[in-house]
Amino acid sequence: MGRKSLQQDNVVDFGSGCGRTKKTKICSRLILSSCLLLIFAFFTAAALADDHEGKHDSHKKHDTKHCDDKHDDNPDVLPVTNPNYSNECGACHFAYPPGLLPSASWREIVAGLENHFGEEVAIDTESKNILIQYLESNAADTSKTELSEKIMRGIDGQTLLRITELSYIIKKHHDIEPSVFKRPSIGSLSNCAACHKGAETGDFDDDRIVMPK
Ligand code: HEC
Ligand code: HEC
Repeated sequence: MGRKSLQQDNVVDFGSGCGRTKKTKICSRLILSSCLLLIFAFFTAAALADDHEGKHDSHKKHDTKHCDDKHDDNPDVLPVTNPNYSNECGACHFAYPPGLLPSASWREIVAGLENHFGEEVAIDTESKNILIQYLESNAADTSKTELSEKIMRGIDGQTLLRITELSYIIKKHHDIEPSVFKRPSIGSLSNCAACHKGAETGDFDDDRIVMPK
């Protein structure tokens, strides 16, 4: 008798929860729809975050991307991601990551392209606007990466047109013999990627430096 009532109790308990009755269907439908809702909410949030190319998110976005890299440190500056920029501004030299100069410097560089360090760089107005937008939203004063912040601390209100004139960059290369820069494989301090093997990915860490002979 006691056993039977125990079994009955069990059945009743089972049924009142997510049992094998009609309720099961309702229950699993509920679970399914809340799962779908959660998935939908997740993708909407992810899409929103992706669309948002703002100052704060570009850093966050980058951190996530960097998780895939073998190198576990954060990059020093955001790597160049804009194909217009790499094409137009990487044709004659290494396409300098925007995070190496503040927006004011980039604006002046783009405004003065007809006499760009003695060269004429011909770019139409529409492309210039695309470049400016990209440069400004990733510049040293807008992208909050470690190296950009160090660069900004040494700016002191100046609008420099060269990365190689930044006090932080000068200081970091102070101990290198001038003859090293004259090597044909290097040329000058402006040729960052000659020694910084991670420069293309925004990595200027001293453990990725190889000075070519
Ligand atoms: C026609 C070739 C050419 C193109 C295209 C070009 N540059 Fe240059 N750039 C130069 C030369 C030459 C120098 C001076 C290099 C030197 O003195 O060692 C220079 C220097 C620079 C420097 C200073 C580097 C330093 O010494 O710190 C920056 C920044 C720069 N360019 C940005 C740009 C940007 C942004 C664009 C695209 C809008 C661009 N360049 C496109 C030829 C070019
Ligand atoms: C001749 C090779 C060479 C060239 C060209 C060069 N660097 Fe360097 N860079 C070095 C060396 C070597 C160090 C390490 C100095 C030290 O730690 O004492 C260094 C250090 C640095 C650091 C500090 C890294 C750290 O972890 O402290 C930064 C940032 C940097 N370089 C950026 C640049 C940029 C930007 C350019 C181009 C405008 C450039 N470098 C061009 C050789 C070079």
